[in-house]
Amino acid sequence: MNDLPDEPTEEETADAPEGEETETCSDAEPGDASEETPQATADDGGEATATVARRLLIAGNWKMNAGGFDGTELATAVANAVADYDDVEVVVGPPATALAAVTDAIRQAKADVGVAGQNMHAEESGAFTGEISAAMLKMCGCQWVILGHSERRTLFGEDDETVAAKTHAAFNAGLAPIVCVGETLEQREAKQTLEIVSTQIAAVLDELLEFSGMGVIAYEPVWAIGTGLTASPEDAQAVHAAIRKQLHQRHPELAETTRILYGGSVKPQNAEGLLAQPDIDGALVGGASLKNESFSKIVEIASKLAQQAKTD
Ligand code: 13P
Repeated sequence: MNDLPDEPTEEETADAPEGEETETCSDAEPGDASEETPQATADDGGEATATVARRLLIAGNWKMNAGGFDGTELATAVANAVADYDDVEVVVGPPATALAAVTDAIRQAKADVGVAGQNMHAEESGAFTGEISAAMLKMCGCQWVILGHSERRTLFGEDDETVAAKTHAAFNAGLAPIVCVGETLEQREAKQTLEIVSTQIAAVLDELLEFSGMGVIAYEPVWAIGTGLTASPEDAQAVHAAIRKQLHQRHPELAETTRILYGGSVKPQNAEGLLAQPDIDGALVGGASLKNESFSKIVEIASKLAQQAKTD
């Protein structure tokens, strides 16, 4: 979308709120993540720029779709289609009803495709009718969980505190969270984009630092979700750079190893411009992840960019 009401200026970017006091990663406890838990690749700390290759991650959020045999079919098609793109990490996020069958289908296809839950409860167990725990997601074969999606925040009343509690519980169970942040159109128009996003990030910074490199952030401007409106690559990059800076203020290695995905009407037609940005490390794809053709095309585009980056 090129006629956005208000894009963060360089000045706003530079003014991203200071992180809290710097902690060292050596203070952090190692996670009890299982071996299959995904990790970003990085060697050392450094400036808050894309100096370390972060493996591109393309994740599909199926939302409340493809929750039965249709989900198994979609997962099998994706698993077969992306088999050759091993320089890109691929994750699918089916509804809870299809998780076990989808992980089984991916196993049968011998594919390197991760599986994400779309939500979970922060408690380990108890009288929470209809809810799903992190351990249950693990039992269904998930390595990932999407947390704090704007639909959870706006339709189901999740606030930063809830998202932080869930993030903590996910890490503790060995699940890698994809924590979603993003501003509404109203907030963007009021020039509050960076303030809103940095507040949402600040709520999970402790958890992200403790399990440095394991967590993923997804910047999803609410006005771009399911609307067909996409942030221009420059708009998105400006917010991603501010997020990276906030992570860097907390700890340089956290900035280097944390992947920041963009989400909001990502499709094959706009993926290349977005994924080519230095601080965009992948995409969280909604609508276009429901068709193998469009989702695997986005993975193919990411793979091409990863190949190019290797030869640069
Ligand atoms: P769309 O790609 O359909 O806009 O959805 C984005 C999203 O919400 C992914 O989590």
